[in-house]
Amino acid sequence: MNQERKIRVAVVFGGRGPEHAISCASGGTVLACIDRDRYDVVPIGILPDGRWVLTADEPARLAITGGQLPSVEAVAEPGGQVLPWTAGGRPQEPGALATAGPGAIPRELGEVDVVLPVLHGPFGEDGTMQGLLEMAGLRYVGAGVLASAVSMDKEYMKLIFRARGLPVGPFVVVRDRDWPEADGSGPAAAVASRPAAETERKRVLDAIGELGWPVFVKPARGGSSIGTSRADDLAGLYRAIETARRYDRKILVEQAITGREIECAVLEGLDGAPPDTSMPGQLMVDGGEEFFDFEAKYLDDANGMAIPAPIPADHLEEVRRLAAAAFEAVSGEGLARVDFFYTPDGEILLNEINTMPGMTAASYFPKMWAASGFSLRELIDRLITTALSKPPGLR
Ligand SMILES: Nc1ncnc2c1ncn2[C@@H]1O[C@H](COP(=O)(O)OP(=O)(O)O)[C@@H](O)[C@H]1O
Ligand SMILES: [Mg+2]
Repeated sequence: MNQERKIRVAVVFGGRGPEHAISCASGGTVLACIDRDRYDVVPIGILPDGRWVLTADEPARLAITGGQLPSVEAVAEPGGQVLPWTAGGRPQEPGALATAGPGAIPRELGEVDVVLPVLHGPFGEDGTMQGLLEMAGLRYVGAGVLASAVSMDKEYMKLIFRARGLPVGPFVVVRDRDWPEADGSGPAAAVASRPAAETERKRVLDAIGELGWPVFVKPARGGSSIGTSRADDLAGLYRAIETARRYDRKILVEQAITGREIECAVLEGLDGAPPDTSMPGQLMVDGGEEFFDFEAKYLDDANGMAIPAPIPADHLEEVRRLAAAAFEAVSGEGLARVDFFYTPDGEILLNEINTMPGMTAASYFPKMWAASGFSLRELIDRLITTALSKPPGLR
């Protein structure tokens, strides 16, 4: 590392997915809290159409204020696109970023020591961005390609958890080929005319029937509760599947778990040590929402978190143990937030792992760490240090 200059960090936010605005808010928090004495910050936004642009370094303009959602468009600087600039495949050379206007020759933005992709959802948190950065020889914060991909896909996430003996609730996967379109168009329309597909759909419906009502229906690679809804009967199931399919062709139908929602934040251990876990917290939905939907998560100030979660001390310990085990099951790196259901009889079930948890002002990852004695500035420091401690290449 060059001692004469600060560590250069590209903070990347926004993105192509439905969580664009949440990612902007998370990016804004990082820009506001990162230690400017140690780091030279390059803020980069990804527009909904996929273009990378330089943005204003003004965290306040990226906050969720008065129910208004931020966007990259609103903070984009005039000028060309930003591109990851590959170092020609030499593993020891740091990667770089370049800018280029339409038809212009790229102008190098300079060396970037580490990329902090504060991106949520598909094309950001699912291994695609991580693959792009690997190809460009750029180091980055957080989970690698495999851990990101597995954790983003709720089917494979649960399969891995189960294989590791971790507790997950019952679920059924509904694939495109299993489900005819409501309007009879599209690739699934063929289902009705294929007897084998009809058999498959019956099998899926029978399996869902065994879950019992109500069920939760969600896009397999969703986040922020977008596209997720509860169904109380067959008609509701059809509606919920149509809603979820707007976001993903693969859907999960889960048995509804009665219980509280408990979360635990995880950081990769230093120097190969086991992961560190925060004090777990319990979500408090007081705003009248029927479950922890988008509104409850980001727009309703009535909701918060009780830290530590008001459950017996040995159950808090068990939540932390399971959070660390979930992190290791997917080969997590850097950070994660692991979410649980806690049933009235004290059973702890894993709901999901998020490899780039929300970092907005209302988010629980920073809140749980704050309650465990870690400020956001220290967290960002730790994430960058962990990322820089590993050589680029196979993980
Ligand atoms: N099986 C379930 N039982 C009860 N509530 C659920 C279930 N699945 C999801 N929910 C509710 O929906 C919210 C979002 O679901 P989740 O699986 O966490 O998806 P996301 O990735 O969008 O956060 C949860 O926080 C919870 O409130
Ligand atoms: Mg969730």
